[in-house]
Amino acid sequence: MEHQGDLTEGNLVNLRRTEERDLPFLEKLWNDGRTMASVGFPFGLGVTEEEMRRWWVRNEVRNENARLGFIEDVGHRIVETKLGAAVGESGFSHCPTGGVASLELKIQADHWGKGYGRDALRALIRYTFDHTSLDLVVVEPALDNHRARKLYEKLGFEPSPRLVLAGRENRGLFMALSRVRYREVQGTQPMFLGAR
Ligand SMILES: CC(C)(COP(=O)(O)OP(=O)(O)OC[C@H]1O[C@@H](n2cnc3c(N)ncnc32)[C@H](O)[C@@H]1OP(=O)(O)O)[C@@H](O)C(=O)NCCC(=O)NCCS
Repeated sequence: MEHQGDLTEGNLVNLRRTEERDLPFLEKLWNDGRTMASVGFPFGLGVTEEEMRRWWVRNEVRNENARLGFIEDVGHRIVETKLGAAVGESGFSHCPTGGVASLELKIQADHWGKGYGRDALRALIRYTFDHTSLDLVVVEPALDNHRARKLYEKLGFEPSPRLVLAGRENRGLFMALSRVRYREVQGTQPMFLGAR
């Protein structure tokens, strides 16, 4: 089964809810300029252990408010290999009434080009359309993030410059994949069935 409770399974990686034990990995990831350059931080975020702890507390509070339905759910997840090695992170946020899921994904630079990013994204998309009633998935790569844009295009995302989400500043290029388009892409390409 590809989605069991808090675990979403791909073919190469799994996505699981972030835990406190993941803080050292996330600190390293966010401070790694090579990984962070394409999201605007070529020298990394420069976060300290103490700041990571504070982020964790805020994340827990946020999760609790989302669980009770008060705010948007921001499902922060760790992307890990089938052997349990953390290789990246993802954010899956959606507003209970909005019908739109917003995805974020980061694979640590040492692991680029191994198919992890595509597999993780594919699993998140499948999760969205097969296990929720959300109708649209959006991503927001920087205009010059060619690696990410190419990946999104291959999975069926289309530029959506006019899409404006309430309360969100448009920092890059909105790309969207609708439920209808997902079904079309699924029907014409083996992409979602596991082939590269
Ligand atoms: C974008 C990102 C998630 C891709 O992850 P990845 O694990 O390297 O991707 P994959 O190995 O699954 O490759 C998937 C596709 O990415 C693109 N890609 C991979 N390496 C690439 C490269 N060197 N140059 C251009 N495109 C590349 C290709 O389209 C590739 O498909 P292909 O193998 O059929 O050519 C990863 O580069 C990353 O985390 N970057 C930093 C953070 C970021 O930019 N996140 C996205 C914010 S919107």
